[in-house]
Amino acid sequence: MNKQKGFIPGLEGVVAAQTRLSRVDGQRGELIIAGYPLAELAGKATFEETTFLLWHGCLPTQTELTAFQTELAQLRPLPGATLTLLQAAARKQIPPMDALRMAAGTLSLDMGERDAPQMAQVITARFPTIVAAYGRLLGGETAVSPDPTLSHAANYLYMLTGAAPSAAQTRALETYLNTVVDHGLNASTFAARVIIATQSDMTSAIVGAVGALKGPLHGGAPGPALDMVFEIGAAERAESYLREKLERGERLMGFGHRVYKVRDPRAEVLGIAAERLFAADGDMALYSLAKSVEKTAVALLAEYKPGRNLQTNVEFYTALLLHGLGLETALFTPTFAIGRIAGWIGHCFEQLENGRLIRPKAAYIGKTHLKWQAVELRTSQ
Ligand code: COA
Repeated sequence: MNKQKGFIPGLEGVVAAQTRLSRVDGQRGELIIAGYPLAELAGKATFEETTFLLWHGCLPTQTELTAFQTELAQLRPLPGATLTLLQAAARKQIPPMDALRMAAGTLSLDMGERDAPQMAQVITARFPTIVAAYGRLLGGETAVSPDPTLSHAANYLYMLTGAAPSAAQTRALETYLNTVVDHGLNASTFAARVIIATQSDMTSAIVGAVGALKGPLHGGAPGPALDMVFEIGAAERAESYLREKLERGERLMGFGHRVYKVRDPRAEVLGIAAERLFAADGDMALYSLAKSVEKTAVALLAEYKPGRNLQTNVEFYTALLLHGLGLETALFTPTFAIGRIAGWIGHCFEQLENGRLIRPKAAYIGKTHLKWQAVELRTSQ
């Protein structure tokens, strides 16, 4: 069936868009973000700077940056109805990605007529407010109102905890958000481009992207990756634990990637950011354990899956870093969305500028000569 002429399952290797936002080189383990190697940008830029870079093609001047930060900060508060929806979702203990999807669809509620660039700012500014409010509501606490004097990243941590974060915590989160901001034509970005390519609206494109990101094969792995490190508990248990998992045919979460056949460059950047964060906190135990789990996992994957080049992916150190920032695992994937949204929107802008309706073909493999049968004559098949 897969051999049908022209059929490429999963569209693997098909080039379906041109972009200036990011280049992913899976063989060399290189990620370029709008011209900057990831390691050059991620640890230095604020999230607002990276977002501006993706949306405008260059880093902002101080005046542009101040204006952009102010605009985003003013847009952070949620419509009342969005908060009511989140409260209802929390009472039913709806998973955070589902709550984010529901709430994202309501963000145009108090906005009237807005064009795509305006809605882009509204959605980007409000995603952290949704996730932080929902995280607190789920835990039985009240939502914390955004603080317009804090940066996008610092304000997210503030809304989660109610306390202003340290400079080291803010830097760690900025680095994380920058690291996951864009990654070629991944599934959620493709979903956003498909939707906006029909000349639908920005909110619809982002809601679709959130739905795609939710799946465990895309953005849903950091929670399980961290659970695995905790279950292992001590470096000397890593080999037996991981070997048993592989013997049972299970996948090791946080390893392997469709594109990267060497270590994911994002794992490299986040590994360094996590090390700095844990060092600033003065407790390296979990970081050291994760390092030895990683080393053992990569060695065992080479033994059990030779030739597959299964290496550490972005999720592994995402888990460690976000845990170090005090986030519940349930908020890991929504926090990924808070970063990736800037990339989704950048792709939507590109698609609106020069894109074409995305309309691939399906190869029909069903029957062709069936005869109509009246309902009373049909038997179940
Ligand atoms: N642990 C164990 N085996 C793995 C593995 C993992 N993490 N990832 C891939 N494999 C194995 C598969 O079982 C398959 O083995 P087989 O050929 O003996 O059947 C082989 O490697 C190729 O797997 P395949 O599913 O074709 O790779 P893919 O490119 O489609 O998968 C992922 C990419 C990310 C879906 C996959 O590596 C995975 O499931 N990883 C764990 C989940 C995860 O970390 N996701 C976040 C990604 S950023």
